[in-house]
Amino acid sequence: MEDHIIFDRRRMVLDLLDQRALPLREERIVCARLNEVIEAIANLTVRGAPAIGVAAAWGCALAAREAGEAGEAWSDRLERDLERLKAARPTAVNLGWAVERMRGLWRAQAPRSPEELVNLWLDEAAALQAGDNAANRAMGDFGAALLEDGDTVLTHCNAGALATAGWGTALGVIRSAVAQGKKIRVISDETRPVLQGARLTCFELHKDGIPVLAACDNAAGLLMQKGMVDKVITGADRIAANGDTANKIGTYTVALLAREHGIPFYIAAPLSTIDPAAPNGDYIPIEKRDGAEVAWIGDRRILPEGVEALNYAFDVTPARLITAIITEKGVLRPPYAASIAAALGL
Ligand code: MRU
Repeated sequence: MEDHIIFDRRRMVLDLLDQRALPLREERIVCARLNEVIEAIANLTVRGAPAIGVAAAWGCALAAREAGEAGEAWSDRLERDLERLKAARPTAVNLGWAVERMRGLWRAQAPRSPEELVNLWLDEAAALQAGDNAANRAMGDFGAALLEDGDTVLTHCNAGALATAGWGTALGVIRSAVAQGKKIRVISDETRPVLQGARLTCFELHKDGIPVLAACDNAAGLLMQKGMVDKVITGADRIAANGDTANKIGTYTVALLAREHGIPFYIAAPLSTIDPAAPNGDYIPIEKRDGAEVAWIGDRRILPEGVEALNYAFDVTPARLITAIITEKGVLRPPYAASIAAALGL
């Protein structure tokens, strides 16, 4: 699945599969303006750290085109718009990484008009999208070696094709192992409150014919106790320099359970998800989303009137609970400060 993020250069629009409607409806949202891209990122039309980065890169090209409306002051306006884009969601570092990559090219090439910059950024966004796809394939090859024929893998949230340019990080590893002929079964945590596991991971894997069962988030302990889980693999939204890893809320709990039960706990993520500027997990901003996501299931309110919900969207798994980090440059092992610095060439 690689057609969930399409940029139409002729019409100058970003065409996104609306992930909020899955798996019931396959609908698309077309963004012609930067504000629409920011909205699509914030409201989870497009979600998953690498996919947010890809959408943001295309959003930069739309921003450059709109900056032309400001005449002489186009570069000031563009700088402000890039900051607004970066702020659409706080935890996934790929968003800021993608915007900074585009800004770096702007500085380096110094185009004299917004029109020139649009062309430069369109090519760069396409390269960024293709690069993410290639990174996932490489990650898949490295990670597949960690899975054995017959393994049952538990995953949390959606770190699949939908969360990336294609193939996926955690699900990419599973897809690559299956492509090698290994029989892999997946247990997908449903992932309250937005249900990325139940709605998106199950949708993707079922479509590919990979056996998948959905489980309540709070079943993970029982499933491990019963010996029903061989490995855990999740994605990441931001990895600090010491290996502490932010991912969807509930990941930390799963990692603790895996440690208790002696089950390997792997993170699969591209190098663009590593934030060398964050020394450890305390430096990772944790997004707090609208409590309505917790208070309501569909059109039914499940909390008594007057009760508020806490809705932290991510948590941080300490590096000591992570068996290995699978990247496109290879499988990183503890101590992560050293293996991460080497992978980043620092
Ligand atoms: O809130 P979301 O759906 O954007 O959260 C996504 C996750 O937590 C994913 O596990 C992470 O971004 C990795 S995606 C390859």
